[in-house]
Amino acid sequence: MASNATNHALLHRVAETGRVAVPFTLDGEPASALAGDTVLTAVLTQGSQLRRNEFSDMPRAGFCMMGACQDCWIATAEGERLRACSTFIAPGMELVTGRSGA
Ligand code: FES
Repeated sequence: MASNATNHALLHRVAETGRVAVPFTLDGEPASALAGDTVLTAVLTQGSQLRRNEFSDMPRAGFCMMGACQDCWIATAEGERLRACSTFIAPGMELVTGRSGA
């Protein structure tokens, strides 16, 4: 298994920190985003990947950020796939990155 990925946040919030908190779970652990965040922002402010590539097992974190490339798929605990860059986080979402140990 490729292991270059870490669990450090890839994105760091520098503005608009006063929005309402939105609780969700990430790989079964409680997490919090802000109202208006995309799923991509919510996840990558917590960790370094959205999922692992199904062929190479390398971590993926999106590419185009505008809904065109489909590199940002992320799974829910129910098995649904979401396009993280164009889906807003919602309270209670249960997201799964597939990172090692998750
Ligand atoms: S990052 Fe390209 S579709 Fe989401």
